[in-house]
Amino acid sequence: MSIIKACIFDLDGVIVDTAVYHYKAWKRLANELGFDFTEDDNEKLKGVSRTHSLELILQWGGITKTEAEKEELATRKNDWYVEMISHMTPAEILPGAKEFLITCRNAGLKTALGSASKNSITILNKIDIAHLFDAVIDGNKVSKPKPDPEVFLKGAEALNVAPVNCVVFEDAIAGVEAAINGGMKAVGIGSPDVLSEANLVVSGLNEMSLEKLSLL
Ligand code: BG6
Ligand code: MG
Repeated sequence: MSIIKACIFDLDGVIVDTAVYHYKAWKRLANELGFDFTEDDNEKLKGVSRTHSLELILQWGGITKTEAEKEELATRKNDWYVEMISHMTPAEILPGAKEFLITCRNAGLKTALGSASKNSITILNKIDIAHLFDAVIDGNKVSKPKPDPEVFLKGAEALNVAPVNCVVFEDAIAGVEAAINGGMKAVGIGSPDVLSEANLVVSGLNEMSLEKLSLL
């Protein structure tokens, strides 16, 4: 059992379900390039940075592009994605996420966001929960992708809490691994079969409680 002093939350798949917007934008790009992109393909991109996602998609499509072309393609995809998330509202917050953030803060726990997305701040503002985080570490502040623990270690540092006293909430395997690699506890959001390395797996933050945190 450990003493949890801070909770670090992944964004996509934990607080909001943006996977559908990423899917639509990547599919449009793949189709323009002349090949298909399925929901199964999209699953493999959860928690993966924009640049690396594009590398994988081009690989799946059997296409080679120059660095300048890749930059243009990533920008094109992001422009479509940003247009879609610009319509997001607080109604899209996943069940129990806002309530659990408030419960944590009322209990004196620190809260941080730890996401690979460079659009994190835009989304937090659209869904109106930016004020519930003491620190936001997003894709603009990290150089090493999950499962490297950089994003979460920076979160712990910003909160001034030792990694051993932090718990991370993650829906991606690489994210759970990043938490463990950083010496933190990991709560998986999703299926126990997939997130088997996590200390606890729940289907959503609506299943979380302070009691469950105290048992980690
Ligand atoms: C992660 C998503 O949170 O952010 C990935 O799970 C996404 O699917 C990554 O590619 C980067 O997001 P963005 O907004 O910087 O393109
Ligand atoms: Mg995620």
